[in-house]
Amino acid sequence: MSAEKYLQMMQQDIHTVIFATTDENHFPVTCVIDIMLSDKDGLYFLTAKGKAFYERLKNQPFISITGMKGADTLSSKSITLRGEVREIGQQRLSEIFEKNPYMEVIYPNRESRTALTVFQIYKGSGEFFDLSRKPIFREQFSFGGMGNHASYFFVTDKCNGCNLCANSCPQNCIDISACHAKIKQEHCLHCGKCKEICPLQAVERRTL
Ligand SMILES: Cc1cc2nc3c(=O)[nH]c(=O)nc-3n(C[C@H](O)[C@H](O)[C@H](O)COP(=O)(O)O)c2cc1C
Repeated sequence: MSAEKYLQMMQQDIHTVIFATTDENHFPVTCVIDIMLSDKDGLYFLTAKGKAFYERLKNQPFISITGMKGADTLSSKSITLRGEVREIGQQRLSEIFEKNPYMEVIYPNRESRTALTVFQIYKGSGEFFDLSRKPIFREQFSFGGMGNHASYFFVTDKCNGCNLCANSCPQNCIDISACHAKIKQEHCLHCGKCKEICPLQAVERRTL
């Protein structure tokens, strides 16, 4: 699926997410924030200029966010992404109130809305993770020109096709139809069992 579709899922299906920022001592701080809009250029959220959250964003414009949807663990899907934000002020504020009418209960009149400002997550990379599918499904995405540096396990040419890794994989995601094992990356848990069990050290952790 495209990055734009995952951003849309974050805004429409998940909507309320956990944001991590850092304070003036570089300590992580989390808080709950709603994703108000999404488009091909990123995600948009708002906050009030008096909040400590606003100060943290202005001092360190880097965020990591996670959102999930599902009744319980085995029916849940999550999206995690990290990226950079910029303040766009009151641009798109009317559109945000039109598309998220519940905001009128919190900020009921024009005067109270002058405290608000909008931020755009304009570049980022992330991952969709779906525990409701068997085997599990995961996919990386990025937008705004940010690279993706996720790590993954890879079987090198040292493999002699002994199948020990395939037999120990909890998601049965190692293809042994050829004489060389191949990990189906979209179904891999990243548990590392294949690397641990390989007698030839043929499995390596790599970074995209
Ligand atoms: C469901 C929910 C959604 C929220 N959405 C927002 C939001 O979109 N923007 C915002 O500034 N605060 C939002 N809040 C409030 C913040 O989480 C709260 O103000 C935050 O803890 C402030 O952190 P701070 O005190 O570090 O500034 C929301 C809270 C909840 C429970």
